Amino acid sequence: MNNSKDHIDISAFPDNLQVEKGVLKGRVGMDFKNFEANYLAVRDKEHRFLADEQVAELPDLKNHVHSKEWQLRTRSAKRVISYFKHSGHGNLLDLGCGNGWFCHKLASECEVSVIGMDVNLTELEQAARVFKLARLKFVYADIFMEQLPLSFFDFITLNAVVQYFPDLSKLIDRLFNLLKPDGELHFIDSPFYDQGDLQHAKQRTFEYYNSLGFPQMAESYYHHSWQELKEFSFEVLYRPDKSKFHKLLNKKDIPFPWIKLVKPNGKA
Ligand SMILES: C[S@@+](CC[C@H](N)C(=O)[O-])C[C@H]1O[C@@H](n2cnc3c(N)ncnc32)[C@H](O)[C@@H]1O
Repeated sequence: MNNSKDHIDISAFPDNLQVEKGVLKGRVGMDFKNFEANYLAVRDKEHRFLADEQVAELPDLKNHVHSKEWQLRTRSAKRVISYFKHSGHGNLLDLGCGNGWFCHKLASECEVSVIGMDVNLTELEQAARVFKLARLKFVYADIFMEQLPLSFFDFITLNAVVQYFPDLSKLIDRLFNLLKPDGELHFIDSPFYDQGDLQHAKQRTFEYYNSLGFPQMAESYYHHSWQELKEFSFEVLYRPDKSKFHKLLNKKDIPFPWIKLVKPNGKA
């Protein structure tokens, strides 16, 4: 792989990946096909499935029921993009890229060649329709199933995604395998709970999906705790300020942390 700014070389990827509608298609099991159907039905109900023209402008989303949330995501994305502008250069995997807005921002504003990967073909096809850059490719694959090149990526980002993976430790191990030595893994815009808050959070999630008419979605949503991260060494690059003072100042920022892990030396 070279790190040239204008394209991403996917020759190290399995050569059985076929391109359809701009997406490189790998192996994805039936479970994920069911997940996609439920996930998209919920997205639709929540008014989160956006038109191509809206996706093209993200994170800017005006006159929309979720405009306020996207203002917070804009703040968070600016912080992360600024980090990668200064320290990022190489190959980046954006796992769970959805409609591709975030990995497109990374590929267009930073010195990184990007793979956006997801198990949600509908949004990947939208991403490929909306965002066309030689150094950005979209891949439909299961991160655990596909024979992906090991020690290939300099960075892996998961933006609002880690809550869809049941086993955090297994996920981190797999992602470390895909990272080069000293490669970085970033969890962005996802909740991490204190042990004592887990039960409540699970209950809230169940009630929420139940109220939407999709209780089964609660089974695909996992609540990860700071405790689970303790076996790894990690750095918190952004920690939401939950103090009363902060609230009084009415400072609006994303309520979730940004966490960085570095692949340990000597790890395969
Ligand atoms: C809330 S969206 C976030 C999308 C995008 N990263 C963003 O920041 O807007 C969560 C995404 O994770 C994807 N996802 C869920 N489980 C996944 C898995 N096992 N592998 C890859 N992507 C997954 C979903 O399909 C969805 O696109």
